Amino acid sequence: MGCCRIWIWFLFVLAVVSLPSRISGETWEAVLTLDHSNFSHTVSKHNLIVVQFYAPWCGRCKKLAPEYEKASSILSSHDPPVVLAKIDADDEKNKVLASEFDVRGYPTIKILRNGGKNVQAYKGPYEADGMVDYLKTQTGPASTEIKSVDDATAFIGEHKVAIVGVFPKFSGEELDNFTVLAEKLRADYDFGHTLNAKHLPRGESSVTGPIVRLFKPFDELFVDFQDFHVEALEKFVEESSVPLVTVFNNDLSNYPFIVKFFGSPNVKVMLFINFTAEGAESFKSKFRETSQQYRQQGLSFLVGDVKSSTAHFQYLGVKEDQVPLIVIQHKDGKKFVKPNLEPDHISSWLKAYKDGNIAPYLKSEPIPEANNEPVKVVVGDSLQDVVFNSGKNVLLEFYSPWCGYCTELAPILEEVAVSYESDADVIIAKLDGIANDVPSESFEVKGYPTVYFKSASGKISKYDGNRTKEDIIEFIEKNRDKPAQNQQEQGKGKEEL
Ligand SMILES: *[C@@H]1O[C@H](CO)[C@@H](O)[C@H](O)[C@H]1NC(C)=O
Ligand SMILES: *[C@@H]1O[C@H](CO)[C@@H](O)[C@H](O)[C@H]1NC(C)=O
Ligand SMILES: *[C@@H]1O[C@H](CO)[C@@H](O)[C@H](O)[C@H]1NC(C)=O
Ligand SMILES: *[C@@H]1O[C@H](CO)[C@@H](O)[C@H](O)[C@H]1NC(C)=O
Repeated sequence: MGCCRIWIWFLFVLAVVSLPSRISGETWEAVLTLDHSNFSHTVSKHNLIVVQFYAPWCGRCKKLAPEYEKASSILSSHDPPVVLAKIDADDEKNKVLASEFDVRGYPTIKILRNGGKNVQAYKGPYEADGMVDYLKTQTGPASTEIKSVDDATAFIGEHKVAIVGVFPKFSGEELDNFTVLAEKLRADYDFGHTLNAKHLPRGESSVTGPIVRLFKPFDELFVDFQDFHVEALEKFVEESSVPLVTVFNNDLSNYPFIVKFFGSPNVKVMLFINFTAEGAESFKSKFRETSQQYRQQGLSFLVGDVKSSTAHFQYLGVKEDQVPLIVIQHKDGKKFVKPNLEPDHISSWLKAYKDGNIAPYLKSEPIPEANNEPVKVVVGDSLQDVVFNSGKNVLLEFYSPWCGYCTELAPILEEVAVSYESDADVIIAKLDGIANDVPSESFEVKGYPTVYFKSASGKISKYDGNRTKEDIIEFIEKNRDKPAQNQQEQGKGKEEL
């Protein structure tokens, strides 16, 4: 007995002694530090834990650190406490773990529930108070009961998407499925449930349910849905919660929809106009009408103000003086562009695109007038002629203006080109892959420099050899078409038949 009492006393002293220094000292941290050795074990002990994947060198992580720390110390006294943790995802030993959580940039914050069984992306603000508010809503039930008109007004608001299940009673498979959905998407949307549709601000108030009513601050303002299969519910929510036409301007409240628009796998149809110019409204309404027609066909629509789109224009390779402008972009990067558009032509141009009558657009520098250097300059607009229609053997380097290896390769390529100057069947060429689009169906360019060879007869091969004059020439000689020899071989083949 005596022994144990001493031990308990000892532990007590230890706690008291260590406590103040931990709280007042500089080293005290409200945020839990994890690494690969204790991550799983720690996570498994928590019903809900927030984990920040950071890198020590990342500026945004450093800026976030005091906010995260502050939020953590406030939330540690919340009931139930919310635990905030961090892990150095750039540490070699933690990298596998980070990749399991699909960490692609820093900081990445994830909310882990049920001992890590459910993982959600953190979608809240990045300053302490906002973080605290957001994370408080992430504890407790995924769906809030709405008992009055006041509840509904406070819950639904005017500027967000909110999803409410109306039920005749709070039991049954429909409620269970609604709850599963709410658990799954709670980080993205607010979920509520009610026994009385009369409390709700919009829609038929005599329905008794089960029904799901999605409120949104745009388009038809609310939509009802009655299929309670979890997958169907999720599809409904994802589809109904984006505007028919996403607006791209400096208004921050559009930001979540813009993120969704660019994250979607759909074909993106983007109209860029000057929002303050005359005729802007007419463009918007014509575009909207057209989008209604194509809505269910895997197309997403956006109207952008030219003033907010400078960076995006650069990326797309289009110019301000082409506005009003439509750009259609496929997932593989393929683009279709219609500059200087009239509102009345939106619909017919889109139909022509759908019918396959519009040629893809390649971002291109102007075709150079003089092209007298040994290494020929190829641009997006001349690629087809030089590489595919010339009937020659072409070695083509894709480079970027700021890549070091490209600079190293340049004099070598020049030597190769000089040695072929008297050979009319071989062209050595280069293309600036930043200023020009590369047709992805012919060439896969993932880094710079990338070198391809296209033989006179059209066979394309990638050059993976050493970047020396000798090796490149050897490769060209091995892969170029030698017309005379080919004919002989074909002739031989025929005789043997
Ligand atoms: C996990 O391990 C690291 C490195 O040993 C340590 O700094 C950290 O405090 C540990 N965290 C927990 C919660 O045990
Ligand atoms: C609930 O969802 C599951 C899974 O999608 C489905 O099998 C079941 O039929 C749904 N129940 C109702 C009432 O829709
Ligand atoms: C947009 O239109 C307004 C009004 O005509 C004009 O003052 C402004 O310069 C235009 N902006 C751009 C980027 O063309
Ligand atoms: C490239 O050069 C290295 C070192 O000079 C050599 O070991 C290697 O075999 C060469 N590779 C090819 C494909 O020629």
